[in-house]
Amino acid sequence: MKILSVVGARPNFMKIAPFIRAIEKHNHENEGGIQHLLVHTGQHYDVRMSKVFFKALNIPDPDINLEIGSGSHAEQIGYTMVAFEKVLLEQKPDWVVVVGDVNATLSCSVIAKKLNIKLCHIEAGLRSGDMSMPEEINRVITDRLSDLLLTPDLLSSENLRNEGTSEEKIHFVGNIMIDTLEDNRKWSGDLKLETIIKENLVAGCINPKRSPVDFSYALITLHRPSNVDDEEVFVPLIKFLSNEVTKDLLVIWPIHPRARKQLINLGLWERTINNPSLIILEPVGYQEMLRLNMGAKIMLTDSGGLQEECCVLGTPCLTLRWNTERPITLREKGGLSVLVGNNIDRIQKEYFHTLTLNRLPSRPKLWDGHTAERIVEKLIETDKRIRY
Ligand code: UD1
Repeated sequence: MKILSVVGARPNFMKIAPFIRAIEKHNHENEGGIQHLLVHTGQHYDVRMSKVFFKALNIPDPDINLEIGSGSHAEQIGYTMVAFEKVLLEQKPDWVVVVGDVNATLSCSVIAKKLNIKLCHIEAGLRSGDMSMPEEINRVITDRLSDLLLTPDLLSSENLRNEGTSEEKIHFVGNIMIDTLEDNRKWSGDLKLETIIKENLVAGCINPKRSPVDFSYALITLHRPSNVDDEEVFVPLIKFLSNEVTKDLLVIWPIHPRARKQLINLGLWERTINNPSLIILEPVGYQEMLRLNMGAKIMLTDSGGLQEECCVLGTPCLTLRWNTERPITLREKGGLSVLVGNNIDRIQKEYFHTLTLNRLPSRPKLWDGHTAERIVEKLIETDKRIRY
């Protein structure tokens, strides 16, 4: 069986790493059997957004890099499709495996099916119900096209059933992100906070006047266009972080290129990096982020992956969105995250309440670190069942 798997952007890398390792393990135990090729579309291309993850997570260099880079959605999706079609015509895999919900996921799924190649989606069935999110469009289309839909939780399986997906295509395998978390937990736990800060502080950011080793900190990430691109949303959020949160806590913020560009465009960059309670870091590696998360008093984020990691690590989390495709991480479902949108009054109210909470890990079913092995088994089983 020949499998070609695809990554494009940062959140894909932690999902593909355990999958590749599980294939290697299978091949080792069965004297081969699966031929695997990795394609990187190049949507994320900065060293800190891509290369460091390959190195840290032991992902082999991609066999093929499409080098698509930035651009509008149409540019990213269109260029990826053109380039990926050539790869598929040349390589003729039995399966294309896509993960997550980024533009690469969508583009490569469409072309795989156009060429009648079997398609497997890892992390299928997540739904926010919000079609204004680019990721929701990517998820819905990818799932509609997939032959094998591997879900991280039972709510996602139910979403697929409700959309009319046939039962034989849906398999609940657990959350592959947690395989990577468990693989790295110990190593990350040994990292020193001071070293992470020293090595990743953005140029010009003044050294923090207090150390996160003996002072509690909030961990922040922001990258969604709905929070970052709209000035009327972004500026109040920055004010809240700079003026309110810093009264109680240090703020550590590994900054996404989109947020950094917006701060510069709005003329807020200098003020932000000169605030002694705001520690602005370059985008950090996977293990560094895990370490920062393990020690945080509270997380404020608009990232879906971090919502999940907070749940398993036990970090109280304010999710800066009005909806989530990962309801299993919410407090009402036993998780640690609460949706606060981007309304400052609401954020403030939940923020003060959340500060009173202690860390309390929670682990949804099959988030056990063995999802990738189940995925490889399902692929082998399904490949025997469906032949084109
Ligand atoms: C993408 C994904 C999102 C994911 C996020 C994680 C889509 C639709 N969105 O959003 O699901 O949660 O990645 O980071 O696929 N840039 C750089 N260097 C890079 C990459 C991007 O400077 O290595 C800049 C781009 O020029 C662009 C901005 O960052 O202006 C945003 O990048 P883009 O790939 O459009 O989407 P993300 O916001 O990162």
